[in-house]
Amino acid sequence: TTLSPDEAKRAAAAEAIKLVRPGMKLGLGTGSTARHFVDLLGGLVAAGLDVLCVPTSEETRAQAAALGVALTTIDAEPELDLTVDGADEFDDSLRLVKGGGGALLREKIVATASKTMVVIADVSKHVEIMGKFPLPVEVTRFGLEATRRLIRARAEEAGCAGEIVLRDKGPGQPFITDNGNFILDCHFGALPRPEQLAQDLSAIPGVVEHGLFIGLAKAVICAGPGGIEIFGR
Ligand code: A5P
Repeated sequence: TTLSPDEAKRAAAAEAIKLVRPGMKLGLGTGSTARHFVDLLGGLVAAGLDVLCVPTSEETRAQAAALGVALTTIDAEPELDLTVDGADEFDDSLRLVKGGGGALLREKIVATASKTMVVIADVSKHVEIMGKFPLPVEVTRFGLEATRRLIRARAEEAGCAGEIVLRDKGPGQPFITDNGNFILDCHFGALPRPEQLAQDLSAIPGVVEHGLFIGLAKAVICAGPGGIEIFGR
């Protein structure tokens, strides 16, 4: 019997739950895979586990609160033990693309504030070359077109090009992040120089954050038909 993608996400989350210890301060990711982790964590909390958590989105905050998970903010707890989050793609060097759910800024702040960040994923997220998933870039509303032009220019210098689309949540209604910004989805295809692109995007004034997470994940727990595979150790 092979796992459905959703069963695989849950299996990865169940493996990550084993890393949780009483008293830990946890960062909670966002998305359909992280949702399984929060759900399983809620079960342990109901059984008496004592942890304190910082959610990476309003969506995750609502889910965790409904499960009775103790929540705080990154301002109250700027140093966390462990963050468990999903990803839109990862490669063998543990480089990630995130932001498909639009939560990349808070996800990156929380992951960076954590001693350890572990990614949970099903095997469909594993790529050989970064860029299969369109790269999300969170940008200020002010200066949208100027920022889009600069992203295009920096991307060309980093060896990639393609459509840069303003994310919407319905016809003519732009998607607004939890932080009040826009998302540009960059359909660049293969990213030959992700490190350079990451640095150059960060240097553009209107770019709040981009979805390349490099040097952040310590491991990826990946569930596929053959069971659990752990990248990064
Ligand atoms: C949210 O902004 C993203 O970074 C998610 O972590 C990512 O989209 C993974 O989501 P799924 O687990 O739903 O694929």
